[in-house]
Amino acid sequence: MPDPNRFAGRVAIVTGAARGIGAATAARLVADGARVLLADQSPEVMAMAASLGAPSLTHGLTIDLAGRGAGEVLVQAALAAYGRLDILVNNAGIGGSKPLVDSDDDLIDRFIDINLKAVLRVTRAAIPHLTRPGGRIISLSSTFGLTGYPGTTAYAVAKAGVAQMTRELAGALAPEGILVNAVAPGVIETAMTEGYLGRAYYRRAVLDPTPLRRAGKPEEVAAAIAFLASDDASYIAGQVLAVDGGWLAARHPPPEAGETMGTPR
Ligand SMILES: NC(=O)c1ccc[n+]([C@@H]2O[C@H](COP(=O)([O-])OP(=O)(O)OC[C@H]3O[C@@H](n4cnc5c(N)ncnc54)[C@H](O)[C@@H]3O)[C@@H](O)[C@H]2O)c1
Repeated sequence: MPDPNRFAGRVAIVTGAARGIGAATAARLVADGARVLLADQSPEVMAMAASLGAPSLTHGLTIDLAGRGAGEVLVQAALAAYGRLDILVNNAGIGGSKPLVDSDDDLIDRFIDINLKAVLRVTRAAIPHLTRPGGRIISLSSTFGLTGYPGTTAYAVAKAGVAQMTRELAGALAPEGILVNAVAPGVIETAMTEGYLGRAYYRRAVLDPTPLRRAGKPEEVAAAIAFLASDDASYIAGQVLAVDGGWLAARHPPPEAGETMGTPR
């Protein structure tokens, strides 16, 4: 449950915060007492920021994070608004990847530019300014970046890169008091997945085998991100936490009538 003292005095940046997991994360961090800069390429981020709190608590920034220099602009905006930076949440991303043979140069560039290069560049810009000790970097990987799932090559490669950035930077920054972790959502109900959830194969391959037998909600990912940003996660570094209803660990389809799992009782 939200605790208004959890992040009292702390400042967070959440990218891709106009909707979906980013908006839910910004809302949770504000409810937990943080001041938050919400950034997104969609101008709707301004209304989202205003809806979550007064300007003293939330600030909106419309920015395409795939552009060169965008990381520096983003970090300077947070420092100008609130004078410090404690938590970076690298959430902005795009979905809708394709099998590699169907991926033209533009598609590959788009996925790597937004889902991987922008994360590297924003993180690079934030590192010198994050509070030491106490800073946090939390990035959005994906279960599709941790295991093979056909048809999503450029997306999966970018998300695997985010997971590896997390491990690599955790080693470099933990000695300075900055903890670097990631979350890997499974199927979460957002605009990114609504097109997929209608597809029979996707439901059969991804949703039905999820042990919790349902899709997740953005607030459930936000809660995991807030945990990793909090003092409760003080001895956790370099982890990629699956928030996926158990899919990655133990996916299996529901048995049909008359079938049993394992040895019949
Ligand atoms: N929804 C899922 O099931 C799921 C699963 C695994 C991982 N993820 C990851 O979680 C993150 C959030 O996903 P979501 O489902 O909330 O997606 P979403 O499409 O609802 O929201 C993504 C937001 O990122 C913004 N964005 C995209 N490109 C940007 C850019 N270049 N600059 C600035 N903002 C940009 C979009 O405008 C949008 O507001 C993504 O990184 C996604 O890959 C989502």
